[in-house]
Amino acid sequence: MADKFKRTTITSALPYANGPVHIGHLAGVYVPADIYARYLRLRGEDVIFVGGSDEHGVPVTIRARKEGITTQQVVDRYHKLIKDSFERFGISFDVYSRTTSATHHKVASDFFSKLYSEGKLVEQTSEQFYDEQTGHFLTDRNIKGECPRCHNTDAYGDQCEKCGATLSPEELINPYNAETGNPLVKRKTKHWYLPLDKAQPWLEQWILNEHKEWRPNVYGQCKSWLDGGLKPRAVTRDLEWGIPVPLEGAEGKVLYVWFDAPIGYISNTVELCQQRPELGSWEKWWKDPETRLVHFIGKDNIVFHCIVFPTMLKMHGDYILPDNVPANEFLNLEGNKISTSKNYAVWLNEYLDELPGRQDELRYVLTANAPETKDNDFTWADFQARCNNELVAVYGNFVNRALQLTQKYYDGQVPPCGELNDFDRETLSEFDGIKSRLEALLDNFKFRDAQKEAMNLARIGNKYIADSEPWKVIKTDPERVKTIINISLQLTANLAIAFEPFLPFSSRRLREMLQMDTFSWEQLGSTDLLPAGKQLGKPSLLFSKIEDDVIAAQTKKLEDTLKANMEAEYKVEPVKDNIAFDDFLKLDVRVGTVLECERVPKMKKLLKFLIDDGMQKRTIVSGIAQWYEPEQLKGKQVLFVANLAPREFKNGLVSEGMILSATNWDGSAVVTTTLSDVKPGSQIS
Ligand code: MF3
Ligand code: ZN
Repeated sequence: MADKFKRTTITSALPYANGPVHIGHLAGVYVPADIYARYLRLRGEDVIFVGGSDEHGVPVTIRARKEGITTQQVVDRYHKLIKDSFERFGISFDVYSRTTSATHHKVASDFFSKLYSEGKLVEQTSEQFYDEQTGHFLTDRNIKGECPRCHNTDAYGDQCEKCGATLSPEELINPYNAETGNPLVKRKTKHWYLPLDKAQPWLEQWILNEHKEWRPNVYGQCKSWLDGGLKPRAVTRDLEWGIPVPLEGAEGKVLYVWFDAPIGYISNTVELCQQRPELGSWEKWWKDPETRLVHFIGKDNIVFHCIVFPTMLKMHGDYILPDNVPANEFLNLEGNKISTSKNYAVWLNEYLDELPGRQDELRYVLTANAPETKDNDFTWADFQARCNNELVAVYGNFVNRALQLTQKYYDGQVPPCGELNDFDRETLSEFDGIKSRLEALLDNFKFRDAQKEAMNLARIGNKYIADSEPWKVIKTDPERVKTIINISLQLTANLAIAFEPFLPFSSRRLREMLQMDTFSWEQLGSTDLLPAGKQLGKPSLLFSKIEDDVIAAQTKKLEDTLKANMEAEYKVEPVKDNIAFDDFLKLDVRVGTVLECERVPKMKKLLKFLIDDGMQKRTIVSGIAQWYEPEQLKGKQVLFVANLAPREFKNGLVSEGMILSATNWDGSAVVTTTLSDVKPGSQIS
């Protein structure tokens, strides 16, 4: 940590209390924030780690209407669920509060009042979209319409989820109320704006010149916002749910969720310092220039944390600004976008229930695949492979060998280290740089590489013990084995420290086995953490294999969700233009009997049929191989177009007609037939 700072305030984005937390949130925000907090604590630094639920805004109200319960019930339910699952997962918040708390309402309200009374907000009346039937103004997220870019008719007022375009409701073609489907009209309403345009000059200086060290994705997004020219942003909304605008004549208006939520970091710090007086005043953590502020967020939050919130803090005065905002890209799931509204995710609470005691496995894989520089993909196959091939086979295996041999040869007492040979020295030399290498990575938020570095230490240990073969040497040179085991044990103790920020559960178990009551980051790299003669605890396995059936069950769950969503979203195709009766008569559809059916070599999609059409045998090729085994169709009667001009395929195969199939909601093909048997060659009319 740079010397100019004495302490660190770590914040992690407040998750919306409209659903449980999923692995995308964890990989993007909470796991890296937790690693960083644990690392700084282990170094003995002054640090607070602030979290909480974001309980205002439109998403929670939508959820409430969907579930037929009150908004308060929604946020109560999810706040508790999220808080509990973070705790079970070992996210070491110093405080986890909520934006519906009385403290927060007061802090946020006062924040607004101060900006208002000092004339820093701009009051402006504008036209907003209004639903005359329900009597409501609509927020961007509640407005849907046709995307001007890709013409998806389900685009939201702030974003098109199909093409990813950032939108404003004005740009939508035929805007409508997302919930009721009612068309919208424009109506005048008064709001208060944060004049970001006035902040543009100092923001440019502060970000573009003074924070070139920010991650390229963060810096780049800020630059493009700044290059586009900032405009004033409304910080109030016409809504019932939220913090009332503390002004006369502002009935029915609340603070915009993105105004109040980041202030939640401050409110939660206020609550924390009330609970733990030894932390001093909350102001120390937010106003002292010797405090370093770091925001952990996902990439969709960059503009709010790098531009909007800093502007609010600066206009308010006295506050420090973030020193860094290590935002992550997105994590996908089995190649698809994670979605709370579509229920497509690995939910933390379900993971904890279904894979009990495996917190570190998930933490490990999410960090190993962290979307630090680009979007990444989580797959259950990769999860299993990393757990079994890395945690079990490398880290766990090494630790287990070292501890079991200590038990077996020395009754669990650390043997003394004798004379070193070249291999020992080479192995021990790997310790030298570990502390500084890890620090260089962790200080720069490169958690993925840092964890790799820690794992590399385990690899070195694993190789050391495997190549030294103490189980053989014991028969010829028992003195030598003492040295091998001593070195192996020193390595395990180092691993317990190095992995603590990443894998706190197994690290704690390992420390218990090693009877390390005290430990600190400072000790990392030391080659005598465990004195000779020290009695160790009882060894047990650090990790166990993830079996195939566990993975299969998780994969199936996701596939089922995808299918259910497809079915729910299925829309019947609009009917084609009318045709004349004479045109219909041109079509010759008949019944045929399938004599033979087989797959076509090298053409995965095709089935080749030999059909009895009542007069002769004809060959028809159909692209339905994905949906049928040839045997299922043999002997069946099918409907086919008899007068389609023959078509030749690339491999020379000629199809004399077309077998008619229905396309089902999931894209699968279902072959058509008659209700009862008819003579082959019968015409359909
Ligand atoms: N609830 C927001 C989201 O999930 C994040 C809020 S972060 C805060 O995208 F700064 F506003 F607290
Ligand atoms: Zn679009």
